[in-house]
Amino acid sequence: MEKKNIDWSNLDFAYMPTDKRYVSNYKDSAWDEGTLTEDSTVHINECAGVLQYAQTVFEGLKAYTTEDGHIVTFRPDLNAERLENSALRLEIPPFPKDRFIDAVTQVVSANAAYVPPYGSGASLYLRPYIFGSNAVIGVKPADEYQFRLFCTPVGPYFKGGVKPITIRVCDFDRAAPHGTGHIKAGLNYAMSLYAIMDAHRQGFDENMYLDSATRTKVEETGGANFLFVTKDNKVVTPKSDTILPSITRRSLIYVAKEYLGLEVEEREVLFEEVKDFAECGLCGTAAVISPVGKIVDHGKEICLPSGMSEMGPVTKKLYETLTGIQQGRIQAPEGWIHVI
Ligand code: PLP
Ligand code: COI
Repeated sequence: MEKKNIDWSNLDFAYMPTDKRYVSNYKDSAWDEGTLTEDSTVHINECAGVLQYAQTVFEGLKAYTTEDGHIVTFRPDLNAERLENSALRLEIPPFPKDRFIDAVTQVVSANAAYVPPYGSGASLYLRPYIFGSNAVIGVKPADEYQFRLFCTPVGPYFKGGVKPITIRVCDFDRAAPHGTGHIKAGLNYAMSLYAIMDAHRQGFDENMYLDSATRTKVEETGGANFLFVTKDNKVVTPKSDTILPSITRRSLIYVAKEYLGLEVEEREVLFEEVKDFAECGLCGTAAVISPVGKIVDHGKEICLPSGMSEMGPVTKKLYETLTGIQQGRIQAPEGWIHVI
C-alpha cells in the first residue's frame, strides 16, 4: 500500500479529510448495519437535536505504525466503554461495543495510506461520535441518531511538541458536582472555548480548572488530565468524580507501577500542594504527555523544578514507556494493543 504524499513530520493537530469514514444511523429503536462512505458531509435537519440542544458525545483515539510495520490502535475497548457511559448520560442510545471496534478497524484499514509511518512522530487520530439527528424543538431527546467515525493524520497537540508549556489557574469552572464533567460530551468543550481563548489572549497555553464546589482542588485542563511527580519520585494524579476518566492516565498509572516500579497515588490533590511538586504533565490521547513548566495563579508563578526547556526525568520515562508500548518497541500488557 502506497502512503499519501504528506509531510508527516510537520503535521499540526488539525483536520484533513481522508478517503473513507464509517456511518451508522439509529431509527425506530435500532442501529442500521452501518457502512463506509466517501461523503465527508453530514446531512441533517435544521432543527436536529444536536444543533439545538447539543445532544452529542464523542471519543478520541489513535492508530500508529509499529516498529515492525503493523498498524495498531491503543485500548479501543476503553473508548467504546466510555462512549457508552457518555451516551447513557445524555439519553443517547449506546452504540454496541463490538460494533465500535469493528468501525475502528474498518476506518483504519480503509485509510491505511493516511497512517503516519513509524518514527514520524505523527499518528492517525480517530474521532467517533454520536449525535441526535432528527428535529427536536421541545427540550427532549431525539428519536434518531447518527454514529460516525472519521480519521485524520495529526501531529502534536501543543505546538513545540514536548516543550514545557505554561498554564494558568482558571477563574471559570469546567464541571459542576453531579454534572457532566466525567463524560465526553460536546457541551463540556463548547463552554471551555471562551476560557481557552481568554487564556491564549493572556499568553497561557492552557487552563488548570479547580473543583467548582471549593476551588481548592486540582481537576484537569480542557482536554487532558494532570499527572504530578513528587520530589521523592511518587506519581500523584487527581481523583475526582467531575473529571474525564482518561485512558492515558489509567494506562500511565499501570506503567508507573508495573514497568517503572514507582509508587502512585490517585487521590484528591489540593492546589496548595502543587508548589511542592517536582514535575507536572498533562496526559491524554491528543496531548500524550505534555510537560508543564510553569503554573500561574493570579500573577503568582509556580515554576516546576523540571524547568522550561525539557520534560522532567520521571515524566520522560513515563512518556518513553507509554509511546514504546503504543509503537511496539516495548511489550504491551495483555489486551492493550488492537492490531488492525
Ligand atoms: N480530559 C479531557 C477533558 C479530555 O477531553 C481528554 C481527552 O480525551 C482527556 C482528559 C484525556 O483522556 P484520554 O486519555 O482518554 O484521551
Ligand atoms: C483527546 O485527547 O482525544 C481529546 O479529545 C482532547 C481534545 C482534542 C478534545
